[in-house]
Amino acid sequence: MTRGKTNAAANGNGRHHNFKTLSATPGNTNARTNGKSKPILITGGAGFVGSNLAHRLLSAGRRVRLLDNLSRSGVERNLQWLIETHGDLLDIEVPDVRNLSIVKEAVKDASQVFHFAAQVAVTSSLGDPIEDFEINARGTLNLLEAVRNVHNPPPLVFTSTNKVYGNLADLQFTNGVTRYSPVNRLIRERGIGEKRPLDFHSPYGCSKGAADQYVIDYARTYRIPALVFRMSCIYGPHQYGNEDQGWVAHFVIRALNGEPITIYGDGKQVRDILFIDDLVDAFLLAQQHMKKLTGNAFNIGGGPQNTISLLELLDLLGELHGGELSVHFEDWRAADQRYYVADTNRFGGLTGWKPKVGVREGVQRLYEWLAAGTQQFHAAPVAVRELARVVEAGKV
Ligand SMILES: NC(=O)c1ccc[n+]([C@@H]2O[C@H](COP(=O)([O-])OP(=O)(O)OC[C@H]3O[C@@H](n4cnc5c(N)ncnc54)[C@H](O)[C@@H]3O)[C@@H](O)[C@H]2O)c1
Repeated sequence: MTRGKTNAAANGNGRHHNFKTLSATPGNTNARTNGKSKPILITGGAGFVGSNLAHRLLSAGRRVRLLDNLSRSGVERNLQWLIETHGDLLDIEVPDVRNLSIVKEAVKDASQVFHFAAQVAVTSSLGDPIEDFEINARGTLNLLEAVRNVHNPPPLVFTSTNKVYGNLADLQFTNGVTRYSPVNRLIRERGIGEKRPLDFHSPYGCSKGAADQYVIDYARTYRIPALVFRMSCIYGPHQYGNEDQGWVAHFVIRALNGEPITIYGDGKQVRDILFIDDLVDAFLLAQQHMKKLTGNAFNIGGGPQNTISLLELLDLLGELHGGELSVHFEDWRAADQRYYVADTNRFGGLTGWKPKVGVREGVQRLYEWLAAGTQQFHAAPVAVRELARVVEAGKV
């Protein structure tokens, strides 16, 4: 894969246009000076999860290739940060996972693959289920085909979601002052395990669920090394959360901007939240232990030790930010779970992983990171922002 060149490609809608690769060291035409080792491919690598993993790998001297169409607003800032911090160890590709030939090219010489590129919001999937399917299900199938076609397939980690377990409507809860709590003691103490029946809710649940099952089946049928993380809410620096996805960061951004926060439902919904550094640890362990983990899905989240309700997050933010937050309430949103907490014991037992960052510490770190960056928030460097705009518009 070359950098700093313009290539022809077809986008996910079948239109043909060129895409650009962006040199990590502008002006450096010798793109392969560090290029002896095989790169680790991260699709969706400019996103919140992808850029944090990329940073960890690059900091350890690994070569990383990012494949991201920069469709998520704000992620061009992550790209800029990675370019400034790591320069020449980084390959960046700006096409779309819906383009099979480009995906094959990106996978061909990869040593490992992390597949994060996705349409990430339930709300957007309700508005455009076909696009959601094309990106999440078809995009993942493209990636699996690309991996299967390599002589020695690189091990793959795919990020699915707890939404594959549906809205857990059969669970009974006690209704506390600030949160729901499961009546079932085992669920209260351990959370939801992988034996829970799959029950895809919302187009997003279906497209991610289909992708999740394809990954498991490709491991079984074609024996590619691959596993699935069914993830709870992840939060931390480099997350540009909005109302549709990334609620912890979204609440913090609203508080910092002095804007009102909308709560859908009564705010007593409980989530186990996982700080990004702990997730990155889990990714590294997943690749390290791939032989014994392949073909499985694992629930990954903060677990029962790291739960918080929406109302409790508002309280914590009130403490961190000082003063009253402006909050108003709307109806429940489709497919919203009253409660979701992951039982992470299976993955923990096999790898030794457990989350280290507690809710209070993690939220404070996110708050401080966002507060420090507020002035740069709208100041992505022109070259990257312009590139993102042009790619999005399909004009390159
Ligand atoms: N963050 C969470 O709380 C959470 C929870 C459960 C599952 N997940 C999953 O984890 C993964 C990463 O999530 P994130 O929070 O980093 O989201 P994100 O939106 O920050 O990152 C996703 C990246 O994918 C890119 N992308 C979108 N469509 C693309 C396409 N068609 N081709 C190429 N790139 C494309 C976006 O530009 C973005 O940079 C996703 O698969 C998501 O479904 C995240």
